[in-house]
Amino acid sequence: MNLTLKIWRQSGPTAPGAIHTYQVGDVSEDMSFLEMLDHLNEDLNEKGEEPVAFDSDCREGICGSCDLMIDGQAHGPEVTTSCQLHMRSFKDGDSITVEPWRADPFPVIKDLIVDRSAFDRIIQSGGYISANTGSAPEANSVPAPRDKAMRAFNVATCIGCGACVAACPNGSASLFLGAKITHLGELPQGQPERWSRVTAMVAQHDAEGFGGCTNIGECTAACPKEIPLDVISQLNKDFRTAVKNGH
Ligand code: SF4
Ligand code: FES
Repeated sequence: MNLTLKIWRQSGPTAPGAIHTYQVGDVSEDMSFLEMLDHLNEDLNEKGEEPVAFDSDCREGICGSCDLMIDGQAHGPEVTTSCQLHMRSFKDGDSITVEPWRADPFPVIKDLIVDRSAFDRIIQSGGYISANTGSAPEANSVPAPRDKAMRAFNVATCIGCGACVAACPNGSASLFLGAKITHLGELPQGQPERWSRVTAMVAQHDAEGFGGCTNIGECTAACPKEIPLDVISQLNKDFRTAVKNGH
């Protein structure tokens, strides 16, 4: 395939940015989107031009580092991460626009790389659990009902990629926060700090400048791990209970 790429270039956090247009050829449909960008960067290196900066680590859909807005959709046209998106989703002659996540709490570092350390600070504000979990127990001896264990496991798949924030018109991180609150809130080990954790994490979410949830649902549609919207109901329920009880 031969493609036209319109890519956001920005040399640093305070530098002005702009869309630059590149032509890239010999793109195989078996390449991932990031491999296609590697291919472009090889061309740029050969020409002595600055390669496009973008983030990645595992390239297996598990670390959450890759964060590209592709044609206005967080992670592009498939329900997956940017690294697991394959070029077979595009066709010869396509023009593709690639931008970084757009949200004030995720400032651009360079080109397509944003600073997502706001998520780390939210996690940090939740603290640790005081329950002594001992050494790894035999799986069937864990005292958690199966439905709760499965729900905790499913929401623990959130990889902190930030697509939910990028997709949300309010720039809310409620889906991410709801996933983290539900994960520990469902398990016996998470109960001692359940109420203080939710108030601290909501306060940090707001202090970072993320917006409020108005139930639009773009977050869950963009989420590569299909975290369900009802984690936000759980978040709101836990927060209300915590505040009512003076936490
Ligand atoms: S909830 Fe989904 S979209 Fe949001 S950070 Fe977690 S995995 Fe990414
Ligand atoms: S690079 Fe790890 S999820 Fe994409």
